[in-house]
Amino acid sequence: MTLPETVLPGDSLADSRPGAQWWRTAVIYQIYPRSFADASGDGVGDLPGVTEHLDDLRTLGVDAIWLSPFQRSPQKDAGYDVSDYCDVDPLFGTLPDFDDLIEAAHARGIRIIADLVPNHSSDQHVWFQQALAAAPGSPERARYIFRDGKGADGELPPNNWDSVFGGPAWTRVVEPDGTPGQWYLHLFDTSQPDFDWSNPEVHEEFRRILRFWLDRGVDGFRVDVAHGLVKAEGLPDYSPDPESGSMGGDEANVPYWGQEGVHEIYRDWNKLLAEYDGDRALCAEAWLPTVDMTALWVRPDEMHQAFNFAYLETEWDAAALRDVVDESLRAYPAVGAPSTWVLSNHDVVRHASRLALTAENPQGHGIGPDSPGQPDPVLGLRRARAASAVMLALPGSAYIYQGEELGLPEVIHLPGEARQDPTWFRTDGERYGRDGCRVPIPWHATAPAYGFSPTGQSWLPQPEEWESLARDVQAADPASTLSLYRTLLAARREHRLGAGTLEWLDGYGDDVLAFRNGDVTVIANLGEAPVELPTADLIAASEPVTGGILPTDTTVWLRPA
Ligand code: NOJ
Repeated sequence: MTLPETVLPGDSLADSRPGAQWWRTAVIYQIYPRSFADASGDGVGDLPGVTEHLDDLRTLGVDAIWLSPFQRSPQKDAGYDVSDYCDVDPLFGTLPDFDDLIEAAHARGIRIIADLVPNHSSDQHVWFQQALAAAPGSPERARYIFRDGKGADGELPPNNWDSVFGGPAWTRVVEPDGTPGQWYLHLFDTSQPDFDWSNPEVHEEFRRILRFWLDRGVDGFRVDVAHGLVKAEGLPDYSPDPESGSMGGDEANVPYWGQEGVHEIYRDWNKLLAEYDGDRALCAEAWLPTVDMTALWVRPDEMHQAFNFAYLETEWDAAALRDVVDESLRAYPAVGAPSTWVLSNHDVVRHASRLALTAENPQGHGIGPDSPGQPDPVLGLRRARAASAVMLALPGSAYIYQGEELGLPEVIHLPGEARQDPTWFRTDGERYGRDGCRVPIPWHATAPAYGFSPTGQSWLPQPEEWESLARDVQAADPASTLSLYRTLLAARREHRLGAGTLEWLDGYGDDVLAFRNGDVTVIANLGEAPVELPTADLIAASEPVTGGILPTDTTVWLRPA
């Protein structure tokens, strides 16, 4: 689709003109607040820590920040269990800290996207506590999904659904009179009861929450489990394929994912956001089986972006990548939306390890010392750099997960007692879960906790090898991954690649991805055989290139000589 006239192609940074639709081309940096920077020294990252490092992000060259949850929460699922949607958790700071952050970010032309968790609350949310204290059938219970159990005494769960984190998706409550009672649904941990979105009160409450943060100046929301809010009528039994990724998505017709009714909610939110200035945006976290299904979330009157998990899940294979890029550049523009691109986030094995795994590893399972197919770290980093150089050349909006610009690998050797992901506990250690991609990031090689925290504390232990990956070491090294990202992001901006058009170039062989985006030619060699490069000037290379020969697992950006 052609962009509206008001779009400023390419350079979205600091463009707050109405209609600029910055999210079409933006590079958005995901901050996982607990692991980014700890200003208070308690070993957990916080909002003042983010504010302190905004200039580093400005230097990196990102347009926006997505903050994973910082709202008040007992932290049973690292903040994805919210007990008060309109407050900052003391672990991360205060509302004034948030206001300071947003002001300082906006002053640097960096937008802020907040995480919104509408599928479930924490069990410590006042509504859920009221529901527990109230009787079956009460309006308090009607905000969540309470049902009587099956069996003579209601001792069996209402259906056979499993939680994403393992174990049953239902927990039985003790009624206020002390007797065993109803069951409540939690697609995730027992501490995360699902809201009942057939209840208008839930809609009203989330409109209030959206307005609360929009009034404070957020530029948009990343919407958690955006495919899960509405459940199929009657809650029919369903058994997923045990090999499918745990956030859902490999199968169609799942009674709790991708139900038609969910779209009404986003149409409503779309209108609400449109009341605000500055092109506020919604991004769907929706794990769905196909690109075409995901595109339904970004129809013109719904969300603005959806994470491209099909791209993230594509293996390091030229033909497969070409297919998913083609599909994405067909399906999203067909509904008027940009494609997004993403390789890592806080739920998946970091791509500097994932791209070198030699065994199947379904999303959410993670890797630990006993996992099959352990990655070769050198190969993983090499592929990650090449993959990032492909991703950042694609038209649309790209997401970067904190630490990938340092080439951080998944941390495999975390002691069991340090692990905190509910997946690890709910599967009795059978799945390692997601802690390995959430380890606090290194800033200064020689500082305590590599500069993550002034006291040297860190809520997950950082590996010794990370000294050489610290940001200050990499900033001084032109061959580092950080320098590569800076070069790529600057060139992406200069050549307006986000707003560009992709044209495949043939003739380089089956193991090569070659395309042109505007005046930039990108060639990525995913095969073993060296590839001869055309005569051109080099803009960027993921590995040193000499003699006009592109080695294996390397990407270059070229421009006409
Ligand atoms: C998706 C989030 O990204 C993940 O971290 C969380 O555990 C689940 N949703 C539940 O909120």
